[in-house]
Amino acid sequence: VSRLVVRNIGELVTCWPRVHESGHRPAAQDNPALGVVRQAALICEGDAVLWVGKERDLPELASEPKESHTIIDARGGTVLPGLVDNHTHLVYAGDRVGEFWLRCQGASYEEIARAGGGIATTVAATRAASEEQLLVGTERRLAQLLRFGVTTVEIKSGYGLSTAHELKLLRVVKRLAKDARQVLVPTFLGAHTVPAERKAQRGAYVDEVVTEMLPEVAREGLAEYCDVFCETAAFSVAETRRVLEAAAQLGLGLRVHAEQLHHTGATSLAVELGAASVDHLEHINAHDVEALAASTTVATLLPGASLFLNQAAQPPARALLDSGVAVALSTDCNPGTCPTQNLPLIGTLGCCRLGMTPAEALLALTVAPAKSLGREGRVGVLRPGARADAVWLASERFENMFYQLGVSPVAGVLVGGTIAHWDFTTVPS
Ligand code: NIG
Ligand code: FE
Repeated sequence: VSRLVVRNIGELVTCWPRVHESGHRPAAQDNPALGVVRQAALICEGDAVLWVGKERDLPELASEPKESHTIIDARGGTVLPGLVDNHTHLVYAGDRVGEFWLRCQGASYEEIARAGGGIATTVAATRAASEEQLLVGTERRLAQLLRFGVTTVEIKSGYGLSTAHELKLLRVVKRLAKDARQVLVPTFLGAHTVPAERKAQRGAYVDEVVTEMLPEVAREGLAEYCDVFCETAAFSVAETRRVLEAAAQLGLGLRVHAEQLHHTGATSLAVELGAASVDHLEHINAHDVEALAASTTVATLLPGASLFLNQAAQPPARALLDSGVAVALSTDCNPGTCPTQNLPLIGTLGCCRLGMTPAEALLALTVAPAKSLGREGRVGVLRPGARADAVWLASERFENMFYQLGVSPVAGVLVGGTIAHWDFTTVPS
């Protein structure tokens, strides 16, 4: 097996509390959950982490044949776990630039959707695209995510909205997962909205999702999770319950787009059904926060979407964190409400708009989303046995990931123990 050693790491942020060294920062900046080691090294073997610790304790590796060793010098920079993006709509064709113009002139997301635009625009373009074209577009977005340090990506369907087209989207993800460098986690989102041609028979569309799409998705093993957009303009709580209960019956995990534009009650439902994640949450109330605090459901916040939609309501990130809820931050990468692959920027928004500390933002891009994808301890963490996914910042402090507004601070990325990107010329701030 090949070994890769990263030496001369100024600050290794493992997100594994067991190795945390305190005392290097003011108490207010010292979050033990970060698992920081100074003057550190990291050893990967094959696609897994073998060892993390102080460089001076680096185990003797001399007994191994030299050719299978790669040694990288981190030049005193920061190394942290590969980032986990647990909410994306990556498989689509076309764009929504025309609607962007309308929104810049005051039209709202909901007005555009009511007039037949929005998700329907992307559904039309996506249905017209071949599996091959969708594959190329999705691959390009995955490559872009990688440059921003993202090594695990959840990907939803939801722009097909018929059995044949939803399966087409999920097959694209399956094909990509086979040789993608990142870990891809597919989610079925057939209940994204009622497609234009079924508006008059919405009940029949929900029937199709439950009795045709879901069984086929499960039979072909095309998704790990099922998601529903529960919203006044999409699916009701009763419809959401029906889809999610059917999905759970088939062994899929559950996720919900909840309370983004209005309070619907989707969060209580998600908690009741033991969902892995509830996402958006701009309109949750104190009761929902309590319900989440008593659950294992992760709260996934998407501040890029609310920024792009110029939405005034913000999710109560502080109340969630202070009551012990696991909070994730994600891009929501999609052509309508957040066309970005810049996950570090989403961390900046978590800090500047939601009142999260840089440490909380980093945990929201690693540990919490990994938990929501059923991969806690395996990704989003650098500890022995975890996947060897890591990000190198040419900077002495991990906060530069968020402090450098909109600029990628990522100088290097390891994916599954191999170097995907390592650029010594990246200028530190
Ligand atoms: O998460 N809210 C529903 N789904 C996406 C938007 C999809 C679209 O507008 O194309 C979201 O914001
Ligand atoms: Fe979404």
